[in-house]
Amino acid sequence: MSKDTLTITDNRTGKQYEIPIENEAIMAKDLRQIKVAEDDFGLMSYDPAFMNTASCKSRVTFIDGDRGILRYRGYPIEQLAEQSNYLEVAYLILHGELPTAAELRDWTWHITHHTFIHENIKKFIDGFHYDAHPMGMLVSAVGALSTFYTDAKDIFNAELRRKQIFRLIAKMPTLAAFAYRHSIGMPYNYPDNDLSYTGNFLNMMSKMTEVQYKPNHTLERALDVLFILHADHEQNCSTNAMRSIGSSHVDPYSAVAGAAAALYGPLHGGANEAVLRMLAEIGSKDHVPAYINRVKGGEVRLMGFGHRVYKNYDPRAKIIKQVAHEVFEVTGKNPVIDIALELERIALEDDYFVSRKLYPNVDFYSGIIYQAMGFPVDMFPVLFAIPRTSGWLAQWEEMLLDSEQKIARPRQIYLGYDERDYESMEQRQDKESKTAKASD
Ligand code: ACO
Repeated sequence: MSKDTLTITDNRTGKQYEIPIENEAIMAKDLRQIKVAEDDFGLMSYDPAFMNTASCKSRVTFIDGDRGILRYRGYPIEQLAEQSNYLEVAYLILHGELPTAAELRDWTWHITHHTFIHENIKKFIDGFHYDAHPMGMLVSAVGALSTFYTDAKDIFNAELRRKQIFRLIAKMPTLAAFAYRHSIGMPYNYPDNDLSYTGNFLNMMSKMTEVQYKPNHTLERALDVLFILHADHEQNCSTNAMRSIGSSHVDPYSAVAGAAAALYGPLHGGANEAVLRMLAEIGSKDHVPAYINRVKGGEVRLMGFGHRVYKNYDPRAKIIKQVAHEVFEVTGKNPVIDIALELERIALEDDYFVSRKLYPNVDFYSGIIYQAMGFPVDMFPVLFAIPRTSGWLAQWEEMLLDSEQKIARPRQIYLGYDERDYESMEQRQDKESKTAKASD
């Protein structure tokens, strides 16, 4: 009869251990009983970069990387991208269910009415150098919000937690737009509560002298779809950072600042920025084969390709490709799309990429759309951080309320020196001169 257990034989001692299997996993802690001597620490699992370690149980997002499936709370990303909007998706991710009409009205009202930031934050942003990267400004400004909302420390008070969630989702676009306006030396635009979440963001980014900014509906909707696609992605690098920082029970503004900093890296949310720089470097379709050769030679990586989890076409990349065409109808075609399509065509036929299961990820096309919409390249990670905030917060709350979670604190395999005695400077100098003489 089959049993949900794993039997391990320790060949060092000949002892056998039976370890329960639950949810297709064993508890790493169950390995600790495996010892050679009574005072041993016990066996650990070694998993750099968490290649095969589940750090939590989650009910938020499901990914099947081999089949290219992404679902939030069970709903396929394709259906949400087509039929929902970002604020409804944010509600779903945070609450577990789609809202009723009244719940959505209430949720949208609260988010809309928390978009303003304290005037001192404006002064704070003013302090940055004119060419400061907007993501650096966003990371600092969102961290600084914790000093304005001291009630945010009360993380086990559900009502106050809710308030910080409203504030964070509402204020991220404001901080992002203010960072952008600072970087181009333009006055800040205040939020317009009559506009949608993405419409208002476009207003804060672009409004000039008009009395009321009227967003282009296609661009507003395209941005909304992009926000839906970026809302959550289970235990990715920045979400892991959010959970890890949050596990110390710090306030959510500080945790979001840490998560956003993780997102900033070129291997994560900075990838779409890197894609555009790569496409500019390639310059034209004719140069694509030569670039592919450099990738295969290990000289450079094909940015926007490959994913830790997806070993198939990233479902988000498929949706984004469609959105690109809708956006180009309004903005005109971004010429780099031809280079991207050629890169994809060649890569998907080439054994180097096929054998390694490297497919375009979400970032391969998102930057091209953002560029066509007029966003500068260094705003790309910022455009990722805004919608990912709802995912970070959902994962953070799930972690806080999970009785199995504790402060995140991995183990290590120590390979450094054993104990040794401190040497005075004279002893070290003496040793150095002896070695120098010996090598003369
Ligand atoms: N270009 C060329 N080769 C690649 C690429 C790439 N983009 N990605 C992976 N490979 C190769 C590796 O060199 C390695 O080859 P090898 O087996 O001969 O050594 C093999 O494919 C496996 O790659 P790993 O680095 O082990 O894969 P990992 O899961 O650690 O990395 C990652 C995933 C970081 C996304 C990687 O594919 C990459 O650097 N991609 C480019 C950056 C990027 O687009 N990041 C965005 C990810 S999506 C997101 O964060 C929203």
